[in-house]
Amino acid sequence: MLSEQTREIVKQTVPVLEQHGTEITKVFYTRMFEAHPELLNIFNKSNQKQGKQQTALAQTVLAAAKHIDNLGAIVPNVNQIAHKHRALQVKEEHYPIVGEYLLKAIKEVLGDAATDEIMNAWEEAYGEIASVFISMEKEMYEKAAWDGFQLFKITNILNQGTTMKSFEVEPEVALEIPELAAGQYITVRVKPENDENLALRHYSLYSVENDGTLKFAVKKEGTGEKKGIVSHELHDNTSIGDSIEISAPAGDFKVNSEAGKELLLLSSGAGVTPMLAMLEDEAKKGRQVHFVHVNESEADVPFKTELTEINEKYDNVDVTYHLKLRDGYLTSDSLQHWINENTDIYLCGGILFMDTIFDEFAKLNISQSDVNFEPFGPKMSITNV
Ligand code: HEM
Repeated sequence: MLSEQTREIVKQTVPVLEQHGTEITKVFYTRMFEAHPELLNIFNKSNQKQGKQQTALAQTVLAAAKHIDNLGAIVPNVNQIAHKHRALQVKEEHYPIVGEYLLKAIKEVLGDAATDEIMNAWEEAYGEIASVFISMEKEMYEKAAWDGFQLFKITNILNQGTTMKSFEVEPEVALEIPELAAGQYITVRVKPENDENLALRHYSLYSVENDGTLKFAVKKEGTGEKKGIVSHELHDNTSIGDSIEISAPAGDFKVNSEAGKELLLLSSGAGVTPMLAMLEDEAKKGRQVHFVHVNESEADVPFKTELTEINEKYDNVDVTYHLKLRDGYLTSDSLQHWINENTDIYLCGGILFMDTIFDEFAKLNISQSDVNFEPFGPKMSITNV
């Protein structure tokens, strides 16, 4: 339990750290990877280059520090991050390393302003915050369907739209695929040629059909310096019959509305993936589902065959493509057609799309807390904490 004085110091110094946040986290990652290059086998290098993970970690530590009197307030966000940590195999023994280099970075950037008293307070606070993550992740490791990364054989690959491919894999080792939940993802680990490090990425399941396989979809991300290492490896250098490493399914994005509620499943781009799994599952249950997918043009829409089939098969489902080149941006005027007081909203896509949709929802008096959402990117960067 932190002393009253420690908590006061932490809360008072949050604004200074916020001011220097980007600098501190840059120094933190540089020094940490110099001392522990093995961590480059866990961290995502594309995110590092774009500074995404830097911001996510810094924001989370600072958000947690603001709530140091009541860390329970950040638990819903920690839960989502903890799932990702478990899927990436972040372990308890990694926390002191992150703590050490975070504190060293604060000292290096703030210099004399970071007195011993301030540094001691932050050391204690980090320990407290880390213990919330560690205990939540411990439970997740115990419940995981298998240990670490295991080998799977690719049994099918299909093009989906212009930028995505779907993959079907089955275990090469003796392990049982657990009951899967729509909204979950798996984590793929590859070792690209000409790269000394392993690379990891999460991919959502597009179907949770229980037939002994895992089915996930991969969007080919970026180009040149900004290319997504895993997605390029999977798209360009992987064929049917190859083996890839996958860790056990994870994630807390699932349909949890009561029977009788209508659903709006709203996605853009690769965000369609978990939504398709949810659609398939909920359509069977007879629930009224409005499925709206935003993309550039009809040629870009992934899983058109599956979506057409479901749309034709179930009277309780309507599938709409909102095509930006044809229909412009999706605005509150269109959104209101699919929403009434009995609608539960599920939203998935990139950070930019989410920001825009939340602005449109605000015009309909719908706030973030009314929406179940999963951004393809750090959730804390758009969550109001
Ligand atoms: C991802 C926070 C400790 C490795 C993340 C994300 C956040 C975060 C907010 C982004 C999640 C998302 O995409 O939604 C924290 C906090 C920590 C902590 C507050 C300490 C209290 C650690 C440790 C490790 C680690 C000890 C391992 C050494 C990662 C990795 C990712 C990640 C590899 C995936 C993103 C990427 O590769 O760039 N963490 N984390 N984290 N974290 Fe942590």
